[in-house]
Amino acid sequence: MSSWYASPAARAWSSGEAGPAARPFHESLPGYRPTPLVPLPSIAAELGVGRVLVKDESARLGLPAFKVLGASWACKQVLDRRPAAVLVTATDGNHGRAVARMARHFGITATVFVPAVMLERTATLIASEGAEVVRVDGDYDEAVRVAALHANESPARALVQDTAWPGYEDVPAWIVDGYETLLDEIDDSLGRAPDLVAVPVGVGSLAQAVVAHHRRPGRAHPSVLSVEPDTAACVLASLTRGRPTPVETAATVMAGMNCGTVSSAAWPVLRDGCDAAVSVTDEEALRASADLGALGVSSGACGAAPLAGIRAVLTDPARRDQLDLPADAVLVLLSTEGLQ
Ligand SMILES: Cc1ncc(COP(=O)(O)O)c(C=O)c1O
Repeated sequence: MSSWYASPAARAWSSGEAGPAARPFHESLPGYRPTPLVPLPSIAAELGVGRVLVKDESARLGLPAFKVLGASWACKQVLDRRPAAVLVTATDGNHGRAVARMARHFGITATVFVPAVMLERTATLIASEGAEVVRVDGDYDEAVRVAALHANESPARALVQDTAWPGYEDVPAWIVDGYETLLDEIDDSLGRAPDLVAVPVGVGSLAQAVVAHHRRPGRAHPSVLSVEPDTAACVLASLTRGRPTPVETAATVMAGMNCGTVSSAAWPVLRDGCDAAVSVTDEEALRASADLGALGVSSGACGAAPLAGIRAVLTDPARRDQLDLPADAVLVLLSTEGLQ
């Protein structure tokens, strides 16, 4: 399987209008403040570009990852329609903890299904939010399947999943709308469109938000680079083949990105509007995490994957040419989680 995909024409594609803004709701939550956009001049010099900035999501609404932006907005939408429902979800870690946190915020309960390989420490963090944690005998995709079955068994339960499939698209759309807050904050601090945004990808919902945001009609269309673990590169495989292509996954340090199936809602947006995708190894992600740490940015393996990805692209002349960046390019890396 190739570890690189480029489709320069995808930058010309235009998305639809944005959904209802979640930002006023986020601003009403305790502890809300925009996360930092940190300049990394030494990385810009290393890569031979104008500026590199990292969006540091290591402290977001009291949690160490961006996922609560989507989970909080989706939980609110679900509970507006079904007050007091028991929230059900499956997770590689961050989303489930965020749903559990929001259940506690709204004074209700949550059941969180987790894959067999989840570290005990991660499961304990989810349980510490007050959720019931159920370990399934399988991977992330299996945990999603079991969670959906469990939710469908009772009308008192509501599934809050951050991936879509045919027939289950409303909640994932709210989750993607929630991620817009992060992108609005970047626009506010940058004051201009970046030339490239590098996104860590699991099922592709965050990348869906990024592509949709940066392909609005009449606005600048920066390059969007999807970065995945080489052991779970379902978006790269799908883009390469031109159709959703599930992949077998294996353990990776990029636990939050360990997903084998692209979200059905993300797929058409990524197929049409994502112009570049790359996969990275655990070693590359860990090196990037250590480098960001040395520069004062707490970034776990998922958070650091965009730095690993952009290195894998810009140090390869053929790939670099395909991105066609200006000499003074401004790059934004989404560091979606801190070191946990
Ligand atoms: C820290 C982190 N980064 C990136 C992702 C990938 O997001 P998505 O699954 O929407 O592609 C996740 C998903 O859980 C995550 O936890």
